[in-house]
Amino acid sequence: MSNGCACHAGLAPEHLAEVGKLLEPYRGQPESLIQALHKTQNVVGYLPREIQVRVAKELNVPLSKVYGVVSFYAFFTTKPKGRHQISICAGTACYVRGASRLLNQLTEDLGVEPGDTSQDGEFSLDVVRCLGACGLGPVVTVNDDVYGRVRKEKLAGIISKYNGE
Ligand code: FES
Repeated sequence: MSNGCACHAGLAPEHLAEVGKLLEPYRGQPESLIQALHKTQNVVGYLPREIQVRVAKELNVPLSKVYGVVSFYAFFTTKPKGRHQISICAGTACYVRGASRLLNQLTEDLGVEPGDTSQDGEFSLDVVRCLGACGLGPVVTVNDDVYGRVRKEKLAGIISKYNGE
C-alpha cells in the first residue's frame, strides 16, 4: 500500500517477519481476531491492507470480516501515525470559541486533513470530542501536552516546538 509518504512506503521486512511470529499463537483461531489485530497494531503502528490480508489468512477469517472489525473500532487505524499527534477539541465549548478556525489553520499549515498524517510523517491531525477542559477552550493537544485558549496566531509557534524534535 502506498500512502504517498516515502517514510512509510510499504512495510519493513522486519515488521512482516515479526507479524508472522506474533500471529503464530492465533493460527486457525478466528475467535482471536480482535486480540491478534491489537497485537499487530502495537508492533506495526497501523493495519494496512497487506497486514489485514495476512491476519485473515493466518486466523482463517474472511478478509471482509477483518476489514469490518478494523473499520468498526476507532482504536484501529489503517494509516500510519505521525511522530506527533495533534488533536483539536470540537466539543461545544471549544467549538463556540473558535475550534473550527484552528482546524482550518492547521489543515492549511500542515497540508493535512483530520484523520491523516503530514507528508513528512511528523504530524497526525485529529478532531476529538470534549477533553474535559472546557473552561480552557478552545483546547488543542499535542502528544500529552494540553494547550488552552489557543488563538489562531499562536498555532504556528506551538507546532514549531515539535517540528523535527
Ligand atoms: S468542549 Fe473542548 S474541552 Fe470540553
